[in-house]
Amino acid sequence: MSSFLVTKTKAKAQLVGIKAAMTLIPAPKPTMFAGEGASLKLCQAVGDFGHQHILIVSDKILNQLGVLSPLVEKLQASGVKTTIFDGVLPDPTLSIVEACLQHYKVSGCDSVLAVGGGSSIDVAKVVALAATNNKTPQQLVGILKGRKASSPLYAIPTTAGTGSEVTVGAVISDDKTHQKGLVLDPKLVPRMVALDSAIMSGMPPKVTAETGLDALTHAVEAYISDIATSESNLYASAAVKLIFENLRIAYNEPKNLTAREAMALASHYGGLALNMAGLGYVHGIAHQLGGHYGLPHGLSNAIVMPHILDFSRPDIDSKLAELARFAGLVTQETSTPVAAQAFMDALLKLMKELNIKTVVPNMQESDFNDIMQAAFKEVHGTYAVPKYMTEEDCLQILYVLSKQA
Ligand SMILES: [Fe+2]
Repeated sequence: MSSFLVTKTKAKAQLVGIKAAMTLIPAPKPTMFAGEGASLKLCQAVGDFGHQHILIVSDKILNQLGVLSPLVEKLQASGVKTTIFDGVLPDPTLSIVEACLQHYKVSGCDSVLAVGGGSSIDVAKVVALAATNNKTPQQLVGILKGRKASSPLYAIPTTAGTGSEVTVGAVISDDKTHQKGLVLDPKLVPRMVALDSAIMSGMPPKVTAETGLDALTHAVEAYISDIATSESNLYASAAVKLIFENLRIAYNEPKNLTAREAMALASHYGGLALNMAGLGYVHGIAHQLGGHYGLPHGLSNAIVMPHILDFSRPDIDSKLAELARFAGLVTQETSTPVAAQAFMDALLKLMKELNIKTVVPNMQESDFNDIMQAAFKEVHGTYAVPKYMTEEDCLQILYVLSKQA
């Protein structure tokens, strides 16, 4: 058997185990508050639970912009003492998580509230799990490493993309190697989440576009996954429709709260879909482009996605066509090949309108092998991709990405 077939067979066998585990350990769904002012309702609910002292995990920019102030006021008015840790940076490292955990312990906190993008939410998730399990963040990297339930955890996302407020994973980087470690555990899912359109209206257009396309990637990769279910498809297709209808509006009209709310829901649905059906090669390669060249996560996904979808066609045409029909990009009667192509055309048009570049700046051919190996390590045996790549397939795509630059 060729090495490609051995890899494919091994990956398929591992996926049987992953699918069984996902069925036996379903991800909980947090209680959700949505709409303008939802974040204050969540703070009121935190007070109703009788927590004494909550750690707010966020970043300096949001703190300086005053985003945290009304939340602190509401929590304190509800009888909850607050401590702020605003030291989260993009692609957070283990040392940031450890510093945050120290704040939790020294301050005598009994609960955690994440306010921010995926980075702040990921740090808060790992801190909440480490706090009750007497383990270091490093010891939690891997699958199901925590035995006890997390410290009560709440989340207010300020971007609409990562879906981190609902996913069972948290990504933390090693300080020295910058390699990303995944903490995977259903106990990471927050108890309650607020999708507050008013808070999200402060997001700059570039971040709106990139995070929105991250959400689209979650939905599309989950929909074309081999372990997609009717439930994951429900969330994924709704996310795709909402994104095609609202991302342009949120990008061009930042204060349009209706579009912001729709994008927050789309991001949330994308997170629910990926919890059930996983991701694929787009994320596998995009993570490496982020690590090697510092590309923002959503932008990396956006650049890679059309190439992976093209590679996976025509195997995924029926699924792309379903998404195109559901999103209203074509009529219900449109044939599968035409509808699938319409989906691809609409994706590229959307990217153009959002001023998303299609280049990977400074991509080095000498990095290709490392990028490919690391991407394959993440994807094979973790995600149920609809079509497996050979090394030549992957190198060809990387070559095309570099030649566009
Ligand atoms: Fe993502």
